[in-house]
Amino acid sequence: MFVPLHDGSEVLIRAIGPQDAALLRRAHQLLSPETVRDRFLGAKPRLSSTDVRYLTDVDQHAHVALVAVDRTRPERILGVARWVRDPARPSTAEAAFVVTDDYQGTGIGSALAIGLADRAVEEGVASLSGSMLAGNRASEALFRRMGGELTVRRDGITNEVTTTLPAESGRLERLAASRRMRPGRRRVAPVVGGHRPQLVA
Ligand SMILES: CC(C)(COP(=O)(O)OP(=O)(O)OC[C@H]1O[C@@H](n2cnc3c(N)ncnc32)[C@H](O)[C@@H]1OP(=O)(O)O)[C@@H](O)C(=O)NCCC(=O)NCCS
Repeated sequence: MFVPLHDGSEVLIRAIGPQDAALLRRAHQLLSPETVRDRFLGAKPRLSSTDVRYLTDVDQHAHVALVAVDRTRPERILGVARWVRDPARPSTAEAAFVVTDDYQGTGIGSALAIGLADRAVEEGVASLSGSMLAGNRASEALFRRMGGELTVRRDGITNEVTTTLPAESGRLERLAASRRMRPGRRRVAPVVGGHRPQLVA
């Protein structure tokens, strides 16, 4: 699905697949160390072949992953979002996101989050959790955006956030439609690493 960003340009949000292996590896190499640390809670200079297979060759039921690609340069992955179902509690899943540094604050993260929440509802997942470094307010905002009730368990340097999803799907389509009505609504100041000090109009 094509989804407008805050500046009116559009990205394509689609399911990831094994054909994305090389694109994902390249996108990862372009991330700043701060963004990699926020996503993986540690250093990961490059993705191994095992990592790439795990991250791209997903069944889209127990492991759902979406990418946002540039509409005009579809070989460029701008963001990735996924959830992995907990086999012990199949109505819950662990979610994670990353948006390439120069596109953070443009609305890709929230579009991916809403797309992930739609897929969760379609697959019978009722709540999504995520681990993030304390102070990662952009990530916390994404979890807030996806659901209704949000619980945050603060655990020293990391926070465990859980959101209960509303039982409605089709929200990404509505988000795209509402952005088309209001292009250029607002932007978030882009700062490398996902920790932006302020929101700008
Ligand atoms: C977290 C991340 C995916 C967000 O993606 P993004 O494209 O920058 O997000 P958006 O521009 O859609 O903004 C998402 C929300 O965060 C809010 N936000 C962004 N920065 C914020 C900040 N510093 N403080 C508070 N809210 C912030 C936005 O207002 C927006 O909220 P809204 O949709 O309710 O208006 C991105 O910053 C990133 O890749 N960070 C590094 C990796 C990471 O932290 N991953 C999460 C680990 S699970």
